[in-house]
Amino acid sequence: MNSDQCCRVRLSIEVLRGIERPFALLFFGKFFELDPSVRALFKSDLRTQGDRFMDFLNTILAHLEDPESIRTLLEELGQRHTVYGVKLEQYRTVETALIWALSQALGADFDGPTRAAWKVAIESASAVMQSGGALPPPSGPE
Ligand code: HEM
Repeated sequence: MNSDQCCRVRLSIEVLRGIERPFALLFFGKFFELDPSVRALFKSDLRTQGDRFMDFLNTILAHLEDPESIRTLLEELGQRHTVYGVKLEQYRTVETALIWALSQALGADFDGPTRAAWKVAIESASAVMQSGGALPPPSGPE
């Protein structure tokens, strides 16, 4: 990502500070509407799940200039997602739901270049998770 794109994504996450929980619920609401079958995969309560998702989003955003430094972290997250029962096409649905939630929360701040920057950030993280998801699952304790 170029530095303009990194700045745009970081600026919009600043706007979400303090409203992470309602934002996460907005996102999950859209995600479950787009694909009702995924609801059953979530065993944790949605507040916990929302906090984890937002924390991880912050981790991704903190490493936009150096995505290689979190490649292993993302691959392992992707491996766990395969174990959760996530299918490849559902990554596209997450991306759509996240972009939609951002457009609702940010309103006029979510202009064309900002949307494009978020798409690059999400799609690249998602691609690494998917490649990790295709790896054999980590072997558990003997
Ligand atoms: C950019 C894409 C995604 C990111 C960054 C992400 C992030 C996370 C994180 C941080 C967790 C916490 C648990 C862990 O660390 O293993 C998690 C759990 C989970 N995610 Fe995702 N996720 C993504 C895509 C998806 C997709 C496409 C699905 C499709 C259904 C999904 C379903 C789940 C489920 C079922 C759990 C476990 C929930 C539970 O503990 O009950 N995620 N995700």
